[in-house]
Amino acid sequence: MVDLRPYTKLHSIQLLKQVIRKWWGLELAFSDAKGYVLDHAEGRIIPSQNDFCRAALFSKEGFRRCNESVKVVRDRLRSGKRRRVVVHSCHMGFDIVAAPIHIDDELAGFLFTGGSTGAPTTSAGRAELLRKVREFAPEAAPKLDDGGDATIPRLSSDDLERLQDLVEFGAQEVMAYHEELRRHEAEVSTLSAELEGRYRFDNIIGTSPAIQEIFRLLEKICRSESTVLIHGESGTGKELIARAIHYNGPRAKKPFVVQNCSAFNDNLLESALFGHVRGAFTGAVADKQGLFAAADGGTFFLDEIGDMSPALQVKLLRVLQEGTFTPVGATKPVHVDVRVIAATHKDLAKLVERGEFREDLYYRVNVLKVTLPPLRDRVEDIPLLVAHFLAKHYHGKGTPPRLSREAMDALQRYRWPGNIRELENEIERLIVLGADQPELGVELLSQRVRDAASQPPPARAGSAPSYRGTLKEAVEALEAEYIYQGLIRTHWNKSQLAKELGISRSNLIQKCAYYGLDRKPKR
Ligand SMILES: Nc1ncnc2c1ncn2[C@@H]1O[C@H](COP(=O)(O)OP(=O)(O)O)[C@@H](O)[C@H]1O
Ligand SMILES: [Mg+2]
Repeated sequence: MVDLRPYTKLHSIQLLKQVIRKWWGLELAFSDAKGYVLDHAEGRIIPSQNDFCRAALFSKEGFRRCNESVKVVRDRLRSGKRRRVVVHSCHMGFDIVAAPIHIDDELAGFLFTGGSTGAPTTSAGRAELLRKVREFAPEAAPKLDDGGDATIPRLSSDDLERLQDLVEFGAQEVMAYHEELRRHEAEVSTLSAELEGRYRFDNIIGTSPAIQEIFRLLEKICRSESTVLIHGESGTGKELIARAIHYNGPRAKKPFVVQNCSAFNDNLLESALFGHVRGAFTGAVADKQGLFAAADGGTFFLDEIGDMSPALQVKLLRVLQEGTFTPVGATKPVHVDVRVIAATHKDLAKLVERGEFREDLYYRVNVLKVTLPPLRDRVEDIPLLVAHFLAKHYHGKGTPPRLSREAMDALQRYRWPGNIRELENEIERLIVLGADQPELGVELLSQRVRDAASQPPPARAGSAPSYRGTLKEAVEALEAEYIYQGLIRTHWNKSQLAKELGISRSNLIQKCAYYGLDRKPKR
């Protein structure tokens, strides 16, 4: 079965989604060949702006019936001879507009929207819809009141025709893109230049000194051709930075290829990276081009390079030194021109000391180094990141919701072991839980984040008051605590806090340095 998930990220599909949402309040979704909605498989439920669908989808039985309707559409598309878009009436009587995606003459899935209607809904019709919702989602029905002012996206017949064209266009985009990828043979995990615009620096959010420093460094790195090493904990943005380097440099129009070195066993990784010739091992029935060859002219992002075996380290070193490698089972070396960007969450220097990573490779890889700080060391970026993710993931009407002051404080106190990825997930979750409230409160946050917020602050400033020691120590402990609380309150705005405390800004900065409060204290 063809995996359609990568195609959901195609730039043209993303644009199409936005257009369809903006014009009609509908959500464009993918189904796989079996009629399973891809978003649902990944734990996401994104209803259209139809209040009845919303009520249905968030109830167990309604959700089951919706999915059942999608399966019926799939059966219709499979049995139909005409490979065209269909309009199907769902269990609630709304329209599902679906366009098939055919790959190798088989139905690989389809693109669809649901929840629209053609005719105006009469009050009797609304009453009938409400009755249906009551039947399977009694808990949701009261929210719909008498159903009189529930939103139902309504499409004129012209609109419906236009929508059908767009959905079909989307399906064709996917098929065309699949063809193109196939021509590249190797499984290049790239969506190439199509995604270019999405990885410019303006996608990298942050005003903290640490991130500003990285921006300055990136400017230089993009212009050069040297190998880059990106170091940082998981979720700090290593891949995002790697893409930014590629798409802002001279190789932008060439492939960007990603391989995680810890994902595979050694033999598979070798064959994936360098390819093999027919008969090289059991199962090698044909020559296979490797990812290094596929990345020729472009950039190769080697993730978790610290997990590479010694044997592969030797091969990689040769690519970096001479630009050549030998596919598994081959006799002649192949020449490539590839820029390598490597990433790791491990301390490579330590690995070298312990003899687990080759020293010569280390120096070769570590020409330009970018170190991404963990999120807990730059809490001042959190408000901006939150705003960015709210805008990115809010699909409702109007402007995205805000966070209450308390919720924001809690986010800044939590230690984010999963870094920005974890923050992004938390915000996505908040949006779903917050439904359409304009302000999201602390009570919606995950338990672990709330727990962290109710803990006393860590480090020196947070030590419990003790009545031992000198008066000077006691006064300093209180002062440190006072400043720390103020920093959280003002989101690390030192000018504002200095004003509130009635001291000069430079005095406050001195005190922060003295108490080690320049940044959020480490664990
Ligand atoms: N500075 C940033 N601004 C905005 N989004 C970011 C930033 N850094 C990371 N992200 C987002 O956080 C998530 C994790 O980033 P990723 O690059 O996959 O991390 P890593 O490779 O270090 O595990 C991605 O969705 C990415 O877009
Ligand atoms: Mg990663």
